[in-house]
Amino acid sequence: MYDKFSYIYDELMKRQVDYNLLASNVIQICNDNNIDVKNILECGMGSGNLTEQFLERKIDVDGFDISDNMLSIAYNKLIDYNNVNILKGDIRTFVSNKKYNLICCFLMF
Ligand SMILES: C[S@@+](CC[C@H](N)C(=O)[O-])C[C@H]1O[C@@H](n2cnc3c(N)ncnc32)[C@H](O)[C@@H]1O
Repeated sequence: MYDKFSYIYDELMKRQVDYNLLASNVIQICNDNNIDVKNILECGMGSGNLTEQFLERKIDVDGFDISDNMLSIAYNKLIDYNNVNILKGDIRTFVSNKKYNLICCFLMF
């Protein structure tokens, strides 16, 4: 579904979601719970809109998504950041040995 949807996804979602505010709220909740977020695993990262907000805050992000087209948009958007790994994966089967301060998944439907 998202392979077709990806072309209009950014336009649609950026009008609907304040990703800057979302990232601020997520980090604030972590801080309130004494979690110092240095790295994040972002499941279903889509086109990387929230990812970019985390990266701007100097947080390392490993992000994955099931859609090749969404990942392609994310790759192009985030190409200048050196603190991100973009992976292909399905949340139902994704496995990692790495430890993260935060594992998140937003707006997956
Ligand atoms: C509405 S988008 C949200 C993207 C991003 N989290 C955001 O907030 O902008 C939902 C994303 O979930 C991904 N997705 C759906 N099912 C998935 C699955 N089983 N594993 C990984 N990603 C999945 C889709 O490909 C799509 O990129």
